Amino acid sequence: MVKSIGPKKIRTAVFISGTGSNLKNLIKFSLKKVSPIEINLIVSNNLKAKGLKFAKMYKIKKKVYNYDKKKDSEKKILKDLKSNDIKLICLAGFMKILSKDFIRRFKGKILNIHPSLLPKYKGLNTHHRAIQNKEKYSGCTVHLVNSKLDSGKIILQKKVKLSKKETPSSLQKKILKHEYILYPRAISKILVNL
Ligand code: GAR
Repeated sequence: MVKSIGPKKIRTAVFISGTGSNLKNLIKFSLKKVSPIEINLIVSNNLKAKGLKFAKMYKIKKKVYNYDKKKDSEKKILKDLKSNDIKLICLAGFMKILSKDFIRRFKGKILNIHPSLLPKYKGLNTHHRAIQNKEKYSGCTVHLVNSKLDSGKIILQKKVKLSKKETPSSLQKKILKHEYILYPRAISKILVNL
């Protein structure tokens, strides 16, 4: 459990690999008075991640790591998280799998958002698979990260109905809108104010 001390906000890092629309949404949330977090660091494995632009826009420190050598990059990330006094990590479209060792060091303090109703459709191409399987519902899940992919304790889920003409891209758009509501709620839920 992550605890916030008094009115001080929890120092948070957001990890991204692409567009970063969840990152933008979390930044906006963090700027609200009611938010228990502040975002102090944006981490990416991808120099070309579009979402990195939000670092400049909102004056947040950003760090990009070459993930070719995972062990080395994770060592560097851990060092930077420590020097920035980061207490919570939010994965938001971060498409790399963190090592067991990394996760152990931040046990119970890494959240992820996944675009399916976990435990269904772990991993990639969730929307495509849900449509192919003729699911009536899909959705999104915020969960704690443990050493097994998309398998940690579920904090919150939102169910979304598929239409008859659903495509992976229409479903992605539909679910993203709910992600923007769910992620801040899940963050507020796990953080205990003393
Ligand atoms: C989001 O839909 C998120 O749930 C998903 O990637 C998208 C990132 O969008 N995450 C995963 O698939 C993680 N396995 P964004 O970059 O616009 O926030």
